[in-house]
Amino acid sequence: MHKLCVTEDIPEREARAFETPNGDTIFITQRDGAFFAYQNVCPHLQVELEFLENQFLDRDQEYIECSTHGALFTVETGECISGPCLGQSLEKVEITVHSDGGIYLPE
Ligand code: FES
Repeated sequence: MHKLCVTEDIPEREARAFETPNGDTIFITQRDGAFFAYQNVCPHLQVELEFLENQFLDRDQEYIECSTHGALFTVETGECISGPCLGQSLEKVEITVHSDGGIYLPE
């Protein structure tokens, strides 16, 4: 397993980007105590979502937002609920939170 960070690194309603060992860029966000991770690729034009470092959420920190055309995605499922890729989804990344407080990528 590959340790990405610890839970304290990702406060509630914030997000942070990581590079995985195979070179993908992913981001993790926390909502209601649960952690969700997605590939940092917008399903609209296959570009990275953020313009500013680690800014993956909209102004209200309610949805994941693509900075290019403003598509909004739910934190829990990654489904686009507004914007040009309506109905498409971000690609979810499986992560596990261990009792040591670490967030890991499975092998
Ligand atoms: S590239 Fe993300 S909404 Fe267009």
